[in-house]
Amino acid sequence: MTDQTLEAQFEQRFGSPSTHRFFAPGRINLIGEHTDYNGGHVFPCALTFGTHAIARKRDDQRFRFYSLNFEQDGIIEVALDELAYDATHSWANYAKGMITVLQEAGYRIDSGCDILIQGDIPNGAGLSSSASLELVIGVLLDRLYGLEIPRLDLVRFGQQVENRYIGVNSGIMDQFAIGMGKAGAGLLLDCETLDYTYAPLDLTGYTIIIMNTNKRRELADSKYNERRAECETALAYLNQFTPREALGQWTTSEFAKVAWEDERLMRRARHAISENERTLQALAALEAGELTTFGQLMNASHVSLREDYEVTGIELDTLVEAAWEQPGVLGARMTGAGFGGCAIAIVEDEAVDAFKQAVGEHYEARIGYPATFYTATVGDGAREIEREVI
Ligand code: GLA
Repeated sequence: MTDQTLEAQFEQRFGSPSTHRFFAPGRINLIGEHTDYNGGHVFPCALTFGTHAIARKRDDQRFRFYSLNFEQDGIIEVALDELAYDATHSWANYAKGMITVLQEAGYRIDSGCDILIQGDIPNGAGLSSSASLELVIGVLLDRLYGLEIPRLDLVRFGQQVENRYIGVNSGIMDQFAIGMGKAGAGLLLDCETLDYTYAPLDLTGYTIIIMNTNKRRELADSKYNERRAECETALAYLNQFTPREALGQWTTSEFAKVAWEDERLMRRARHAISENERTLQALAALEAGELTTFGQLMNASHVSLREDYEVTGIELDTLVEAAWEQPGVLGARMTGAGFGGCAIAIVEDEAVDAFKQAVGEHYEARIGYPATFYTATVGDGAREIEREVI
């Protein structure tokens, strides 16, 4: 949406012009799934589509929020001292959560503002529309109130909104990718230490295709928190043998020596540990230009998520397994939390049209409704956007 169109909407809803514009991307994870809250590695990247926000500070203590994606909610208005979670405030809770968490951290936000949001990440598709919203609000508050929040702290505050305000026990991957992403690069993050490196995604001749199952996935409704709890129980079991902080500190060869009573917990731990190793192997393959190996590791990641972690489901499996059959495909896997949402495939440029056609037809015939395909371009992290001169 152009600056003019957004601005026209802002003035129509709020009666005066906005002063600033911001953007935060969505993300995909290339590999390293359900490893972040296990102290392992992840390898996500930011996208070029995401959440736009334009805003203006107010003189009083009222906040007004309007989203072009949830027009039925109208303007959601709250006072500075009414920021508690309220289910009727729908999407605006993410914005209220960010204000709350910043205030709790000691940042001074002493007046309100008007904020208009427009997002082009399909909502509930597992491309982190919620983390994108948190971070766009984060950079907005940082700028409007002159807070000068270190970027890594902003990333952590976004995660705190999920954990403490929304009630989803998510890890730090999404906010990190969205806050720290760089065009053309994947971000290898050690979630235990938060050490990170940018790895150029040199995929010349290939396109990253996002495949949306169009099965909605709500993190809070999903089995996400249950998986996380299972990993904690598995770690407690392993700690009887060798005490460690996180599953990410185990290797697959050490793990193989442990006898388990609970087969399900064994599989959960096996996924977290093997996925962490695959992620490091994938980075090494990428750096060595061994794209075939990178693709095979993506495929192995999906199998582990399907068999050991059990977070795929018929929709994601249908898409990914159909993708594996197509010519010109390096690899394919689900991305994000799973239970619906999106998968990704790395496909030779010339094969992309035939790929979408074949996978799309197969999916619709099997599932009964169509999948949607997007081309992923790897973009920069959350930021202020210079205004066009209107
Ligand atoms: C969601 C969470 C992340 C991460 C992924 C699974 O996207 O928000 O923290 O755990 O699932 O890798």
